[in-house]
Amino acid sequence: MTRGYRTGGRGEIGDMIQAILRTAFPPALSRGTRPFPWPWRDRAGRLSALRAVVLALLLAPAAWLLVTALTEGLGPEPAKAALREIGLWTIRLLLVTLAVTPLGRILAAPRILALRRMLGLGTLAYALLHLLLYAAYQDFALPRIASEIALRFYLTIGFVALLGLAVLGWTSTDGWMRKLGRRWKRLHLLIFPVAALGVFHFFLQSKSQLWEAVLAAGLLAWLILWRLLPAEARLHPVALLLLAPATGLAAAGVEYAWYALATNLPAGRILAANLDVAFGLRPAVWAAVAVVVPPLLALPGWIRARRAGRTAPGSAAPGPAPAHPPAAAGNPAR
Ligand code: HEM
Repeated sequence: MTRGYRTGGRGEIGDMIQAILRTAFPPALSRGTRPFPWPWRDRAGRLSALRAVVLALLLAPAAWLLVTALTEGLGPEPAKAALREIGLWTIRLLLVTLAVTPLGRILAAPRILALRRMLGLGTLAYALLHLLLYAAYQDFALPRIASEIALRFYLTIGFVALLGLAVLGWTSTDGWMRKLGRRWKRLHLLIFPVAALGVFHFFLQSKSQLWEAVLAAGLLAWLILWRLLPAEARLHPVALLLLAPATGLAAAGVEYAWYALATNLPAGRILAANLDVAFGLRPAVWAAVAVVVPPLLALPGWIRARRAGRTAPGSAAPGPAPAHPPAAAGNPAR
């Protein structure tokens, strides 16, 4: 029954489930000898506590929303409230997915790099749910949905972002990685324009309630700036600390531009408020503070490495090989 198919010795029931799945999804499973890629298992088919916890965290916002909906806690327009909530989680998860590579490298935690595919597919699932809820909000009137998406600029932007996510999700498999070779990496850099469109969609429908949209813009700016650093500077403490003011300035600049171009509000005064902490920290300042955290967390490790006569991992001076090779860091395998 399970010829050419590893079951990990989990007995008859496991064999049966594998056989059913293999029959149900023949193209995906019949080629290899690997067990079904359940998200809580690692590549070797072993249960991974890290993957199981991350999967549970991924599902938690949707589960919480479902419970709130069932207890009628979503207010007078539940479909719209759910649509907005899932939209928020889509952009948050997209940024978390993009943050895995820098965090894995800065914190020398290569294990988390293997979470990228799961997080990316989770983001896509949330984006599709967001679209489904939009369709529900429009009573599943497909012609109206299509014309709204075509005619309303912010919906068109969201739709293009969703299409981009779908392409990246579709091509995230090992098979596509093999098929596209070096072009795979270039294709998957599309995630940055997709995220920028997602943030733009967020701004466009936020009107004047921009707090989280500005924070998202700042964090996306940091993710892009980190990638633009020369490879040897990406783990350098000074370069990473300098990215913090750059991130804050980018977020404040986007916020200023938005207020100046899209509203009648006094953009200059809003920009100046970033320097006045009397009314609490503005989102641009929060973005700058947030991006200092990873290098600060990594600092003890870097200091220990220096004391031990080595250089900080990733710095230009010679030193021992980093804890994880750059190839592994760049490889988006699950
Ligand atoms: C076909 C694709 C999409 C459609 C039709 C769509 C539609 C909508 C609609 C109708 C809203 C609520 C507007 C309102 O409150 O008046 C919204 C909000 C939002 N959407 Fe989308 N969207 C799409 C794709 C996306 C994607 C791909 C992302 C993220 C990458 C996203 C992120 C958001 C966010 C963050 C909000 C704001 C939530 C809030 O303000 O609380 N959307 N979207």
